Amino acid sequence: MSIKIVVVGSYNQDLSWICDEFPKTEETIFGKFKMRTGGKGSNQAVAVARTGIKTAFVGSIGNDSFGKEVKQFYVDEGIEFFLTEQEDTPTGTAGIVVNSIGQNKIIVSPGANDKLSPLDIPENLVREAQVVICQFESQLNTTAYVLKTARDAKVTTILNPAPMRLDFKPGLIDNIDILIPNEIEFTQLIKHFCPKLYMDFTENTIHQLSEEKLHQLCRNIGIDTIIVTLGHHGCFVSTNDNFKLLPANNHNKVIDTTGAGDAFVGAFASGYVQFNKDILKSAKFGNLVAGLSVTKLGAASSMPYRDEINSLFY
Ligand code: RIB
Repeated sequence: MSIKIVVVGSYNQDLSWICDEFPKTEETIFGKFKMRTGGKGSNQAVAVARTGIKTAFVGSIGNDSFGKEVKQFYVDEGIEFFLTEQEDTPTGTAGIVVNSIGQNKIIVSPGANDKLSPLDIPENLVREAQVVICQFESQLNTTAYVLKTARDAKVTTILNPAPMRLDFKPGLIDNIDILIPNEIEFTQLIKHFCPKLYMDFTENTIHQLSEEKLHQLCRNIGIDTIIVTLGHHGCFVSTNDNFKLLPANNHNKVIDTTGAGDAFVGAFASGYVQFNKDILKSAKFGNLVAGLSVTKLGAASSMPYRDEINSLFY
């Protein structure tokens, strides 16, 4: 089976603490510690693979124990992997705190992710895929290079601009077919692109906007398809000629929202391949998978498998 979706992006070792409430400034609290595989790119590859679609992950790790252990993880997940090992830079890490209602706060130290170079990208793999997914957790120039390489080969490109950074070169936008920000990233982008028009717009007021207004905002960015993920509100899909709010699947108890955005992105891409590029059906699939992911602890570890999804989607 050939690779259908290629994810180029970050791998982090996630160091997570579960606690009752987030610590206040200068406060020390107790929490339950767990170390897991993470990184937005890697999590998205896992989300795709567990839906049964052949996936490859391209990333960069350090020459340390975190980097060494992750290879077996990809073998176990059935993900083809292309990892560049950096001699002098550690594997990326993320410090994650999760509270009793499943909310999270994350700090990332990109480490080796920031060293991923265009020379590390298996070009044929990118050119022969149906979909290529990138995020903003790896070297920006390399991300721009991958999106251009894919676009030149008429491969559908998806960018999840997380975590948001506004130091990207403007041309990067031209090579994105589908942009999937969350409400915080979307707000930052709108303020970046239209600073005068939308000064008092925040990630909290986004939910008060009409669908028409939200669609108008999306149309300012200059990308054909924008899907804003809205947490437990679902997602908003804006294409050149249509828009729709798709409610979330909120039927289950939320345990940990870490990686829910990654679950959405990976599942959306998987749906796009499975459902003949049907954007709305793929976004509904993304909502369902993200809704299942929050019922388990961790990021990659919470991605649901095909049989869990099948009973609910078909
Ligand atoms: O989206 C969740 C991910 O963000 C975590 O796995 C962490 O590594 C950070 O990249």
